[in-house]
Amino acid sequence: MKPSGGKTRKTKSAASKANPAKGAVQWQSPVKPRPQFAKQVRTPAIDAPAQGGARQDASPRRVLVRRSGARPEERTGLILETLPSEDYALLDSGNGLKLEQYGPYRIVRPEGQAIWLPAWAKAEWDKADAVFTGNTDEEGVGRWHFPKVPLGETWPLAFDELPFYGRFTSFRHVGVFPEQGTHWAHMDRLIRNAKRPVKVLNLFGYTGVASLVAARAGAEVTHVDASKKAIAWARENQEMAGLSSKPIRWICEDAMKFVMREERRGSTYDIILLDPPAYGRGPGGEVWQLFDNLPDMVDICRAILSPNALSVVLTAYSIRASFFAIHELMRDAFTGLGGTVESGELILRERSSGRALSTSLFSRWENT
Ligand SMILES: C[S@@+](CC[C@H](N)C(=O)[O-])C[C@H]1O[C@@H](n2cnc3c(N)ncnc32)[C@H](O)[C@@H]1O
Repeated sequence: MKPSGGKTRKTKSAASKANPAKGAVQWQSPVKPRPQFAKQVRTPAIDAPAQGGARQDASPRRVLVRRSGARPEERTGLILETLPSEDYALLDSGNGLKLEQYGPYRIVRPEGQAIWLPAWAKAEWDKADAVFTGNTDEEGVGRWHFPKVPLGETWPLAFDELPFYGRFTSFRHVGVFPEQGTHWAHMDRLIRNAKRPVKVLNLFGYTGVASLVAARAGAEVTHVDASKKAIAWARENQEMAGLSSKPIRWICEDAMKFVMREERRGSTYDIILLDPPAYGRGPGGEVWQLFDNLPDMVDICRAILSPNALSVVLTAYSIRASFFAIHELMRDAFTGLGGTVESGELILRERSSGRALSTSLFSRWENT
């Protein structure tokens, strides 16, 4: 995987001015607002840190307060592309499947958005080394088949010359989300250009490639994930990458609990990455529901930013929402801090016929 995946195309810029036409119909919500939003009737224009109470599953207690000051500048409709490279390529897609090259292996997995026909002949797909079959849901169960020879659980991969392991995991994943490479390249640049010590917090960090990219660039990294297995894989990746001596704290904890504690302690970070699933569980069974918990999480991330913070990068997968949902959430949360919030989609560009396969929504604040 090459960082060239960070190619950005600005397709559209939304106007910042909300100026409803005279006599425009005022829409009213037909449903009662959810309680945590209904409670936000306190004095606006207060920039005090919000109160963090103990989280109850799927019903956060944090009282969110509108921030005072100017909202950050905005750039919307950005498409960040991951182009085919030697380390990773989306080769072809269609008929509800995608054909990808991960280092030495050609892999077939379900892909609900590939509603078109494959561009390549069946003979190319038949060269696959591994095929995942089963439930087509993102987290659906299924199994791997190896049509040529049985393969081991792991194999060597690389991002921008940083080696790590690809891995046939249950639930179809392969230990890395290549579309994230564009965010990693962005973070790498920020850390190197800062020319000062930089602290990075990687929430929902999975197998740790982002943490390794940050550590290699010179940052002090805190990596948080709920899964012991994922943390163990991340440590193996650290060794594989030859970065064992780099300062990375590997923490197996519920991400929300962790950030709440950091806020109480007054710990701060210069860059925060958060890549939450739509639904997940902490090690103690804590429920993560993106729509319920993300507003609190983003608010706490703002509270634990250092005075000279560089960036907060949010990605959201498998949700029914426009990028505007997370864009406006981020702009509200970073109100008063200056900088820019840019948002859009992460896509994979197909080698066979250049089609774009959308993987996720993103929104990132940068202190520009
Ligand atoms: C989409 S993956 C992150 C991918 C990663 N950013 C990357 O690019 O490699 C989501 C991760 O969130 C973790 N997770 C789910 N619920 C969590 C929770 N409540 N607290 C912390 N981590 C959680 C999962 O274990 C999983 O590793």
